[in-house]
Amino acid sequence: MSLWMANFIKMNGEYLLKALPFLLKSVKILLYMAKNHFLWENNRSNMGSFIKGLGFYVPENVVKNEDFLKYMDTTDEWIQERTGIKERRYATRHKESTVSLAAEAAKKAIADAGIQASDIDFIIFATLSPDYFFPGCGVLLQRELGITGTECGALDVRNQCSGFIYALSVAHQFSSSGMYRNILVVGAEVHSMGLDYTTRGRNVSVIFGDGAGAAIVQPSSEAGQGILATCMHSNGTHAEELAFINPGCHGGRYGDIEKYGYLDEKEYGGTFLTQKMLDDALIYPNMNGQLVFKHAVQKMPEAIMEVLNKAGYKPSDLKMLIPHQANLRIAAFVQHTLRLNDSQVYNNIQKYGNTTAASIPIALTEAYQQGLFSSGDLVCMTAFGSGFTWGAVLMRWV
Ligand code: COA
Repeated sequence: MSLWMANFIKMNGEYLLKALPFLLKSVKILLYMAKNHFLWENNRSNMGSFIKGLGFYVPENVVKNEDFLKYMDTTDEWIQERTGIKERRYATRHKESTVSLAAEAAKKAIADAGIQASDIDFIIFATLSPDYFFPGCGVLLQRELGITGTECGALDVRNQCSGFIYALSVAHQFSSSGMYRNILVVGAEVHSMGLDYTTRGRNVSVIFGDGAGAAIVQPSSEAGQGILATCMHSNGTHAEELAFINPGCHGGRYGDIEKYGYLDEKEYGGTFLTQKMLDDALIYPNMNGQLVFKHAVQKMPEAIMEVLNKAGYKPSDLKMLIPHQANLRIAAFVQHTLRLNDSQVYNNIQKYGNTTAASIPIALTEAYQQGLFSSGDLVCMTAFGSGFTWGAVLMRWV
């Protein structure tokens, strides 16, 4: 030992002795981290993810087809015949919002997964009807769940009807890579606050409903279990054929002053929301129903086949298909194309209408709660919607 070292120990021996427990604890923590990292790295190539918990929530307020008769020229027969919808749920003003519905669904999924809200280390929130233009719903949900203290990340996904498929696919990647242990994936919508309840808007307003569904995604190291394959696609060619354009930051780029009107006296701004948009009722979603229909019945079966092929299965292997609840006729088309029988396809649009990003997690939770699939069953979910965007997820239920 050098003279310098001997002098150092002599002078600081007392302090070193005091610091010894702390040093030992630090070494122990470092060893624990190294061991975990080693195990994690070792397992990483085998990692996947699965849905550990599910929950859904719909508002109590039931709106029947007949309830629209006082606002627009429509009939119960037309709505049922063209869409299959009998009723839907509407949120209560001043009381409920997309985030409050999401929080109720999330609490149920958290309980079903047997975890605490504070265990959530990432939030993915899919919606087209956010509470605010910004910030996103993810942070509002974090606050609503009382877990701001965790400072977990929150991501908003804006992929409309295929929002939940996209959100789940992202969660699958984050989970499988070992990045997060408990990801809360939510699809939630409150459409009822922003629809056109006149005859002009009847083709859209009768279809949509409010609700929320949630899932807790966890990593899994069991091969062939949980999420087996995902696919996500888009084609922006027909972006405006199913869209909610105003208010917006497009600055009239896709139209002109004639269409949107500008506050010309202003040097900057004044195009986000103009008086002309309000006067001409250009502040509602619009939809080319037939075009959407044609693409949906083609792309949803394609997406299902893509994930089945990736995982080496065929349609007859499916225990349950959960199609996005856009229209009962679309679901029937998909079922027919893939030659699935009635017991292989779950629909609940009759009760809830089209709840966009919430439709798949609501239907998945209902089917699961009804015991329509269980551990070991092959379950597929698919969606198509605005964008156009579409995709599918195939799971071996754990
Ligand atoms: N009540 C009564 N009549 C209505 C109506 C309503 N709520 N909405 C539209 N109509 C009328 C139309 O004005 C039209 O009248 P016209 O013939 O006098 O012009 C007639 O019904 C037929 O309209 P059309 O749009 O051709 O009907 P459709 O058979 O295509 O059904 C949809 C309309 C919207 C139900 C159907 O196209 C659809 O479901 N498309 C897919 C939409 C979808 O899934 N969107 C969600 C995104 S994933």
